[in-house]
Amino acid sequence: MKISVIGCGYLGAVHAASMVQLGHDVVGVDVDERRVGLLNRARAPFYEPGFEDLLGTSLASGRLRFSADVADAAGSAVHFVCVGTPQKRGEYAADLRYVQAAVESLLSVLAPGELVAGKSTVPVGTAARLAELVEGKVPGALLAWNPEFLREGFAVQDTLHPDRLVYGLPAGPDGERARALLDEVYAPIVAAGTPQVVTDHATAEMVKTAANSFLATKISFINAMAELCEATGADVTQLADAIGHDDRIGRKFLNAGLGFGGGCLPKDIRAFMARAGELGADQALTFLREVDAINMRRRIRMVDLAREVCDGSLLGKRVAVLGAAFKPDSDDIRDSPALNVAAQLQLQGAVVRVTDPAALANSRAEWPHLDFADTPEEAAERADAVLLLTEWQQYRDLDPVAFGEVVARKRVLDGRNALDREAWTAAGWSYRALGRRAG
Ligand code: UGA
Repeated sequence: MKISVIGCGYLGAVHAASMVQLGHDVVGVDVDERRVGLLNRARAPFYEPGFEDLLGTSLASGRLRFSADVADAAGSAVHFVCVGTPQKRGEYAADLRYVQAAVESLLSVLAPGELVAGKSTVPVGTAARLAELVEGKVPGALLAWNPEFLREGFAVQDTLHPDRLVYGLPAGPDGERARALLDEVYAPIVAAGTPQVVTDHATAEMVKTAANSFLATKISFINAMAELCEATGADVTQLADAIGHDDRIGRKFLNAGLGFGGGCLPKDIRAFMARAGELGADQALTFLREVDAINMRRRIRMVDLAREVCDGSLLGKRVAVLGAAFKPDSDDIRDSPALNVAAQLQLQGAVVRVTDPAALANSRAEWPHLDFADTPEEAAERADAVLLLTEWQQYRDLDPVAFGEVVARKRVLDGRNALDREAWTAAGWSYRALGRRAG
């Protein structure tokens, strides 16, 4: 099939290259010419394990190219819309201008019988509005919403082997036509028995925001338990293990620590609240305010804990921060809890050095007033305290004995409950973590 992908960020670039693996002929369109140039040279514009290899093989097949001109999308049977929906400045609502622009730009190339398939995370009601626009301008063209659930760090795996396919379709025969096109796109995934949920536009849009809200709630739930554990001397990691054995609860996304960040969970719960307000149903989601508040409190608590271990004052204390990305295996620093904490420590007078295996270039560009180091050893040189804020495997694997040689004081704060407490304390470190007793 001939397919176009509009918007080649995380979602779109991975989707475009993956669709080639499914046997299609794909053009990825993005307004950013630099990005288009990189992608055409098989260079990933972001860090994502496995993506550059996939991009290389897909380009080598001759069935993938990237372009800055939407005219190149003409003749595609399906046009995927994969642009971003960031939070509006100063508001909770999602900024839909890129989605709107993408769909409007497609109107000039769209032909009857072709399908516009939205993948971006949008407020419920967007697809119905866009469907009217598309059908009004190009009678016979179709619009479906087909949300994406990929996680950064697992983007390739999640795209090629999703745990479900969700189709939000128009009613009647148009819906049948749209479904047939999507089934053809995903034929190998459908044939593998992947569960499909075939529904209307509104449900499909809500599936995505509901899923991210649930995940955020799960994380904030365990972080609320961590607050209680701190007040009582209980251990939140054992608590999570114990309740996680109940498969109605499950252990995944119950890792207490510094909480969630990134380009999705924080803005999606806020946009969901804003949309509920517009719909007159804001009460239904007031709990998400609490989810957000618990999450932000963890950052404050981390700063407080750092001050506490630095004998009550951060002034002039050398603090090493391990991790800048919002999560491991990513160079994404959008709403990164780690950088947020690093900046607050610096504001309070600490001499902060941040390191990260992949996110240093982005961090330097966005946070020029922070000080950065290439390695954990460099960051921790003569440090009064070491904070693990993003749980990269290389930080989990640090040898506490050797690492103890570089610091001034062996004090470690494990912001992700990721280190082996016994090994670190055995090597003479004082160990503190969110939701656990001091070690
Ligand atoms: C999230 C969802 O997991 C994806 O399913 C969704 O498709 C994506 O948003 C999206 O909307 O595009 P992602 O933002 O890549 O994916 O990251 P997650 O793996 O969900 O992690 C989010 C944050 O939660 C990270 O900061 C992570 O450190 C934190 N987290 C995660 C915890 O604090 N505790 C946990 O137990 C799990």
